[in-house]
Amino acid sequence: MPPMDGSARPYRLVVAPAPELAEQLAEQVLAERLASRPQPLGLATGATMEPFYAALSRRVAALSEEQQQRLRQTWCSFNLDEYVGLGPEDPESFTATMARLLRTPLGLDHACVHCPDGLADDPVAEARRYRLSLAAAGGLGLQLLGLGRNGHVGFNEPPCGPEAGTRLIDLTAATREQNAFAFAGQASAVPGQAITLGLAEILSARQLVLLVTGAAKAEILARALRQPPTADVPASWLQRHPDLLVLADPAAAAGLL
Ligand code: GLP
Repeated sequence: MPPMDGSARPYRLVVAPAPELAEQLAEQVLAERLASRPQPLGLATGATMEPFYAALSRRVAALSEEQQQRLRQTWCSFNLDEYVGLGPEDPESFTATMARLLRTPLGLDHACVHCPDGLADDPVAEARRYRLSLAAAGGLGLQLLGLGRNGHVGFNEPPCGPEAGTRLIDLTAATREQNAFAFAGQASAVPGQAITLGLAEILSARQLVLLVTGAAKAEILARALRQPPTADVPASWLQRHPDLLVLADPAAAAGLL
């Protein structure tokens, strides 16, 4: 959709109710996965993404058996991040979350749904392994992104420049507070570190889709997209990407229109 005010924005913006955005994203991801020679898909977790995974599961269940099989045979996704210290047996880990929201409903092999290993003895080496394994798979095609309330994407916490690579990172108090909902409301139970894809790898994806919903994200979304890129708002570097699609519900888009 072209900007309604006629300005030349460096991104495309679609404003629609959240359930419609989830359907649109599911349609786009499915078309991408069923295309010939699909590139690795970059996936995100977080509450914002859950309706998308539900929509994707519904759409896949409605496909023919042949298409479902093709999807399973060619699936390759890389998640943005994982908490250090949590493994597949921990329901709050992103690996377990992806099993619940994606792997089990779609019948995917765990080897093609990549997440950093949060239980690796050496998380720094694990971050390197993850980066190399993504590069060996061909790099990212379509990358889905949510937005942290402090402007992080993946777990690229502020301050963060566009050259930051895949790495071990300390989570900020704000992020641990934001994600406490998944840990019985206890921010202190949220791990203090994570392995995240870097902004460098994210910005190298062929296309970025940023999904943002709810009034609580309106201010940070406007800061990310309306101000010059700054390390204080890591998501603001997304403006430099040549193919950025922003999907926002009316509440989140309030500061953009
Ligand atoms: C999390 C994840 C991000 C996610 C963001 C938004 O911490 N690391 O990948 O996009 O924060 O989360 P939510 O959708 O729950 O607001």
